[in-house]
Amino acid sequence: MSIFHSDGATRPDLESPDMATLPPLQGTDLTLGYGATTVSEHLDVGIPDGSFTAIIGPNACGKSTLLRALSRLLDPEGGQVILDGRDIRRYPSKVVARRLGLLPQSSTSPEGISVRDLVARGRFPHQALLRQWSIADDEAVARALASTGVTDLADRRVDELSGGQKQRVWLSLVLAQETSLLLLDEPTTFLDITHQLEVLDLCRDLHDSGRYTLVAVLHDLNLAFRYASHLIVMKEGRVVAQGIPEDIVTADLISEVYDIACLCLPDPVTGRPWIIPTESDRPGRTPT
Ligand SMILES: Nc1ncnc2c1ncn2[C@@H]1O[C@H](COP(=O)(O)OP(=O)(O)OP(=O)(O)O)[C@@H](O)[C@H]1O
Ligand SMILES: [Mg+2]
Repeated sequence: MSIFHSDGATRPDLESPDMATLPPLQGTDLTLGYGATTVSEHLDVGIPDGSFTAIIGPNACGKSTLLRALSRLLDPEGGQVILDGRDIRRYPSKVVARRLGLLPQSSTSPEGISVRDLVARGRFPHQALLRQWSIADDEAVARALASTGVTDLADRRVDELSGGQKQRVWLSLVLAQETSLLLLDEPTTFLDITHQLEVLDLCRDLHDSGRYTLVAVLHDLNLAFRYASHLIVMKEGRVVAQGIPEDIVTADLISEVYDIACLCLPDPVTGRPWIIPTESDRPGRTPT
């Protein structure tokens, strides 16, 4: 476990990489932004191999921006994203797409496309010029549909589904890609509690299989603490703390990051940290 602050004090030494211990995906000295808007500066972050990492932090603190950079959708203005020991920009895009799948925070589907056809697009990185669609592709799509419980929706139009149904279909698309690194930006948004737990149980099963490294942006803190093996806490573009939830989560940390008053108790079910907001004493709050 390590807690490190954005000054990079515990950053791994890239000059002598040990592939057995290096995170499969890391950002070093990242400066990220959009034109004149700088979101993060000198950000250092590592995704531990085989972890289920949750990223938490207030709206607009830069979580999606970080995920977009880690998946090569956004070019860093400074620093590097390192995938399996090499700058991610040095890989052909199909190689990255077979190694790493991203569920973006929001996506738009082509008009009229069916669920099955959308999920089948997850197989594109596995297609070659001379390789036809195969039974293996059919099986991967069927597995992906089943794992998020949308098999019954396979022939429906995506644009006619509810928000929660769509969310599970997009997650199926990423799973159909069959990558061992999964970056999920708010996979539980729009989902009722049953489906939130189903998605997180699925993530935990993938994690427990030992064959996946998962990163998920989550807004439900208590579910994040319950499921994640590693936590990255962000505020205003910086990583404020990272490590095992039990080791780093305190009422002070959550109060500082979210500007709320809270208690931190052991979760009665799991013993993990459990945050309970108390009466808000935020500056500027209008009493009712
Ligand atoms: N395409 C864009 N162009 C300009 N600014 C952007 C763009 N996307 C995001 N930003 C800005 O970058 C900052 C970080 O946004 P980001 O989407 O990374 O936040 P977030 O932590 O994911 O927030 P949320 O919890 O609301 O999803 C915000 O101030 C946002 O307005
Ligand atoms: Mg976001």
